[in-house]
Amino acid sequence: MEIKIFETSEQLDSYAAELFTQLLNEKPNAVLGLATGSTPIGIYDKIVENFNHNKVSFSGATTYNLDEYVGLTPENDQSYAYYMNRHLFSRIDIPSSQTHLPNGMAENPEEECTRYDALLNAHPADIQLLGLGHNGHIGFNEPDGELSAGTHVVKLKEETREANARFFASMDEVPKEAYTMGVGSILKANTILLVVRGSDKARIVKEALTGPITTQVPASLLQTHPRVIVLLDREAGRML
Ligand code: GLP
Repeated sequence: MEIKIFETSEQLDSYAAELFTQLLNEKPNAVLGLATGSTPIGIYDKIVENFNHNKVSFSGATTYNLDEYVGLTPENDQSYAYYMNRHLFSRIDIPSSQTHLPNGMAENPEEECTRYDALLNAHPADIQLLGLGHNGHIGFNEPDGELSAGTHVVKLKEETREANARFFASMDEVPKEAYTMGVGSILKANTILLVVRGSDKARIVKEALTGPITTQVPASLLQTHPRVIVLLDREAGRML
């Protein structure tokens, strides 16, 4: 595991954006696993900057997102589909047919999981971007006695709903369920890029990276992967 701690968030963003830029320059048809939440926003901004300076093109890339809320349409400004369009897809040259997320409005959730898994299995990610939940979740793989390998619907923990409530008008509007890529699919990525910011995540960063491997801290499973790059700001790395 390669751990890099940055003095400023901007340095972290530039470094991460550079990794995506280099990958796409070497492999224009790369498969990118993407994430949402507040953590990747600065990285997406830097990627767009690189795109605007003609340093990178996404015309051949394919993307697969980690997760999506059940019951939110892509037009709902809290859906992850909306987030991705707003922060990245509408600002670069990727055709929409090459971007993928679980469909939060699917009529049959089981079929939706099978559909998404078939895509993921056929197109393993060259790089998978990950944020980290305060309880150690990755994607929406919440701490539990057991974890699923493939795409599934999760019942969100109250602590996760509360952490994400800041993006919604009220707690009642925060969905109770979400689709998420399973840990099996996440661990199939060639390279995993885990990004964490902020003092409030320092303890879970330490637990995930240096504690025992346990399904109660889903991110600890990353310790089993041969190529994980961890990018931290000073605050998130302060307990290492
Ligand atoms: C959310 C997302 C995760 C994200 C995490 C951290 O619930 N499903 O993919 O990594 O929580 O979010 P943030 O970056 O906003 O702290």
